[in-house]
Amino acid sequence: MTDRLTIRRPDDWHVHLRDGAMLAHVAPYTARQFARAIVMPNLSPPVTTAAEGIAYRDRIRATVPADLDFTPLIVAYLTDHSDAGEMARGHAEGIFTAAKLYPAHATTGSAHGVTDVANIMPVLERMQAIGMPLLIHGEVTDADVDIFDREAVFIERTLAPLAKALPELKIVLEHITTAEAAQFVADAPAHVAATITPQHLHINRNAMLVGGIRPHAYCLPVAKREHHRLAVRAAATSGSPKFFLGTDSAPHAVHTKEAACGCAGIFNAPYALESYVTAFDEDGALDRFEGFASEHGPRFYGLPLNEGTITLERGETVVPDRVGEVVPFHAGETLGWRIV
Ligand code: DOR
Ligand code: ZN
Repeated sequence: MTDRLTIRRPDDWHVHLRDGAMLAHVAPYTARQFARAIVMPNLSPPVTTAAEGIAYRDRIRATVPADLDFTPLIVAYLTDHSDAGEMARGHAEGIFTAAKLYPAHATTGSAHGVTDVANIMPVLERMQAIGMPLLIHGEVTDADVDIFDREAVFIERTLAPLAKALPELKIVLEHITTAEAAQFVADAPAHVAATITPQHLHINRNAMLVGGIRPHAYCLPVAKREHHRLAVRAAATSGSPKFFLGTDSAPHAVHTKEAACGCAGIFNAPYALESYVTAFDEDGALDRFEGFASEHGPRFYGLPLNEGTITLERGETVVPDRVGEVVPFHAGETLGWRIV
């Protein structure tokens, strides 16, 4: 039995660090665990221009202690009015690592998102030409589509045709939650990949709804049935380079979660690695954890692998009920791994 695991320093390929006081509160947790992070741009207002990207990057850098040696990677937020030239310039200047497609009104901070992918085809064509990755929140928003079906329907109606129309576009389907998503990505060419969160490895929709409604298990895309969780878990632990770590850590103050209309988002940053490694251990896949956490992501993005290592060992991590004003994922539980 492996009791200690030393891996190359990992990265988080999908995180919400927010802004202002919340940024100052949460960013150090991500910076303690990860060398780099792809930081989502769904602020209000969203990060749409290169100038806004630089300003946000500076605010993040200012809030993280320098000794943590953390690099935020900034993402442009696509709107119906995004300009191909602005995206390409931002990418060429090293400000925008990627651009994010939020279907309008799909989730938190998506009000300025894209109403129809047809509106941004010139931008996507340019991104394909320059090798700039498109990160996708893959859910349709049609009122007549059941919330538990929105990811699978998005793949059928939007993603499959898009990948066909732009056969060289680098795509990351973010935070996958279904067997359909895992299958689509596995079957797609090498430049189509997916991130996977810790919560979608651990919980199915029962965690949210059995024995009372549990707002801290609610995120979008919402956790699905057990067979989907198992499919997502099999993808994560498969060793395939198409699947990599992206926490989707999304903090909301407790009073905005425990409310008549609670916000979507799970704050998993403080114990993300302990959570992931527990799942890999349960599936007898510890030997594949380094690929998932530290290698597949940088290879997909064409970035160097991190120097330095982090060691995890079997042992108790007691997750507190609160981290400041935010309830963390696994609150009140004890995880079987800890960071040395
Ligand atoms: O649960 C979520 N929370 N899903 C998202 O897509 C956005 C995120 C947030 O920003 O809170
Ligand atoms: Zn997200």
